[in-house]
Amino acid sequence: MKALTIKQKRKLRRVSVERAPRLSVIRPTKLGFRISVRLHDGQTPDDYLRVLDKLSHAWKVHSVRLASWKPGKVTLVATLADPLRQVSVPVLSDGLLRVRVGLLDTGAPFTIDFRAVPHWLSVGATQSGKSNLANALIVGLAPQPVALVGFDLKGGVEFTLYEARMSALATERSECAVLLADLVGIIRDRMAVCRQYRVKNIWRLPEHVRPVPIVVLVDEVAELFLMADPKSEKEEVAAVATRLLRIAQLGRAFGIYLKVCGQRVGSDLGPGVTALRAQLTGRICHMVNDEETAKMALGDMDSGALAAARKISPAEPGTAIVIGSEGRWHRMRSVHVTEEQAEAAAATYAALAPTWADLMLGVRPADDLDAGEVNDFSDADTDSDAEVYV
Ligand SMILES: Nc1ncnc2c1ncn2[C@@H]1O[C@H](COP(=O)(O)OP(=O)(O)OP(=O)(O)O)[C@@H](O)[C@H]1O
Ligand SMILES: [Mg+2]
Repeated sequence: MKALTIKQKRKLRRVSVERAPRLSVIRPTKLGFRISVRLHDGQTPDDYLRVLDKLSHAWKVHSVRLASWKPGKVTLVATLADPLRQVSVPVLSDGLLRVRVGLLDTGAPFTIDFRAVPHWLSVGATQSGKSNLANALIVGLAPQPVALVGFDLKGGVEFTLYEARMSALATERSECAVLLADLVGIIRDRMAVCRQYRVKNIWRLPEHVRPVPIVVLVDEVAELFLMADPKSEKEEVAAVATRLLRIAQLGRAFGIYLKVCGQRVGSDLGPGVTALRAQLTGRICHMVNDEETAKMALGDMDSGALAAARKISPAEPGTAIVIGSEGRWHRMRSVHVTEEQAEAAAATYAALAPTWADLMLGVRPADDLDAGEVNDFSDADTDSDAEVYV
């Protein structure tokens, strides 16, 4: 038999004998340290993903994350103490339709940027911090040249305080149905303008004809879908679902953006919910009561994201797992913004709110809107998408 070369002998020895991780030097970071590990033959980054929790206990640090991997190598980032224990930065209006609403556990800002990610879904159990985040957004958007529209299905208790800065506010489903129809009408009108100028979206229109962007805030989306009496409410719910979905599908190009809040956004709520959820690509998962809800919010993010969501405690309201433009997950905590602060911002910038009549100028009335809708859910099977998480 041919003798082994020295290289082959070394490799064989490594495979059979070497067990300890091959670590690089420890590099300090602002919040802890970073270390690279060369993988042994047969190891994969998943082997490290599975033991991150054990590592954080062994190293006595707040958390360990797998920051990146190259073939044969992973980089681990350890954070010594929870950087989100106290978020002391203010809300920052960071450009048109961009608001820094919190901090990530890397110490980086968490910015909701509607131009980059047009539609957001924010879920969480009661008292988890959903309204606080909406307050932060209102404080950040109020000074900007944008229109705010509220759908407050909690009978108006959430957004009435901010009505001064809102161009429209609906507090009951029937009002929502009309307002959504108007918004679809606005989209249709903006489409016509874009067609006329041969551009694909409002941002390419000449400035003097470019319409004002509209941010739509929805609180307790489930109320839009729940039916006490299916017989009499089915039609209205189907119309609302269809219009909301159309706005989510078409809004981005025509300057209409959504931030949808709810305790749960499962397909059991009704037809169209899964399709709507798929369009809301910005995800914010606050503390939740069950794994299912976290899965619905975070989709097929790695198991680390779900575990991190399940670990959020009631003692840290405003903390959430977020997925933004680059599709990776982070732990985030929002800036604490009281109702009074948001109300004061709304009052201060009330004059910047375009009237609904201004926004509807030239828009055809919403009579024939639902004829030929692309997605009509009135007869759809509620359970057909029960297992699909996006
Ligand atoms: N980032 C934060 N920092 C500190 N406190 C916070 C933060 N976010 C929320 N809170 C506090 O936690 C409590 C609950 O927050 P919030 O009202 O936003 O919850 P919610 O999810 O909207 O609840 P509900 O579903 O009942 O409307 C409030 O007292 C709020 O001030
Ligand atoms: Mg709330």
